[in-house]
Amino acid sequence: MSVIDKPRSKVLERILTLEVVRVTERAAVAAARLRGRGDEKAADQAAVDAMRRELNVLPIDGVVVIGEGERDEAPMLYIGEQVGTGGNIKVDIALDPLEGTTLCAKNQPNSLAVLAIAERGGLLNAPDVYMDKIAVGPGYPKGIVDLDASPADNIAALAQAKKVRPDEITALVMDRPRHADLIEAIRSTGAAVQLITDGDVAGIIHTTEPEVTGVDIYLGIGGAPEGVLAAAALRCIGGQMQGRLILDSEEKIARARRMGIEEPKKKYDLFELASGDVYFAATGVTNGSLLSGVRFGYKGIYTETLVMRSATRTERWIKSRHPFVEKFAAEAK
Ligand code: FBP
Repeated sequence: MSVIDKPRSKVLERILTLEVVRVTERAAVAAARLRGRGDEKAADQAAVDAMRRELNVLPIDGVVVIGEGERDEAPMLYIGEQVGTGGNIKVDIALDPLEGTTLCAKNQPNSLAVLAIAERGGLLNAPDVYMDKIAVGPGYPKGIVDLDASPADNIAALAQAKKVRPDEITALVMDRPRHADLIEAIRSTGAAVQLITDGDVAGIIHTTEPEVTGVDIYLGIGGAPEGVLAAAALRCIGGQMQGRLILDSEEKIARARRMGIEEPKKKYDLFELASGDVYFAATGVTNGSLLSGVRFGYKGIYTETLVMRSATRTERWIKSRHPFVEKFAAEAK
């Protein structure tokens, strides 16, 4: 059956794969204009504006479930905001128009514009708190690592499954004081620790291709919204992940409850973080090990995007050249 023979909703779903690319491309270009200027807020705002504009022309009935914050703190792309032109495609959206605001402000590697779209109810409605996470790439037996196991046990199990020695394993961890004990525990196994200053969505995606990235496992605490976005990516690529929200105050527990989370200490697996059919798209803002950043060239603006869909496991790396048209000129103002 050709694309045009498919029932209409299916055609739209397939078209959506490419439509989402425009959304992250525009957000990335807008942020990239403010790369290296030392102004996190301005870069983030530019990305938010651009992403919102593009989301609102998509033929979807979308609800932001992971966004810029709760309604009282984020005027745009807040949790609960409705986006799209409406219609039959009812979806939930997780977004981070600029993941790694500091990386962008300092023009350091791996800041991204990120978007995930799932069937309604498919994404964990996580509050903007921390999440303890563990992730490995595809190809390992189910349950090979566990959030509740010690770093030593996780590294040992992974090394055994990979048929390497523990000192041939590399764990990616965010460089934060809160990880001092974790880092020591990993190093005591002989494994290498690779520290990143920001950007754990890209960090977790790195585990999916250890042969290329050199990263075998992600461990530690980062943002919960980023955890859901990374889970959406792993649903498309494969791999295993678990996450647990860090709800360490009554206020956070109450906030989570308002979002439908009744069990504050629940350990979520990959399919509880992101279920059903999921799209994931990321465009590089700054150059990175995953994607090239936006380039402002003589003939136009160049972007690189990874877009994936879980139902088909398709991965597309899309390199685009956008000629200088009014839309982009408007973003330059
Ligand atoms: P922002 O894009 O919101 O700045 O987040 C960057 C980030 O590094 C995430 O990738 C990560 O999950 C989170 O911050 C970690 O939070 P913190 O900087 O508070 O440790």
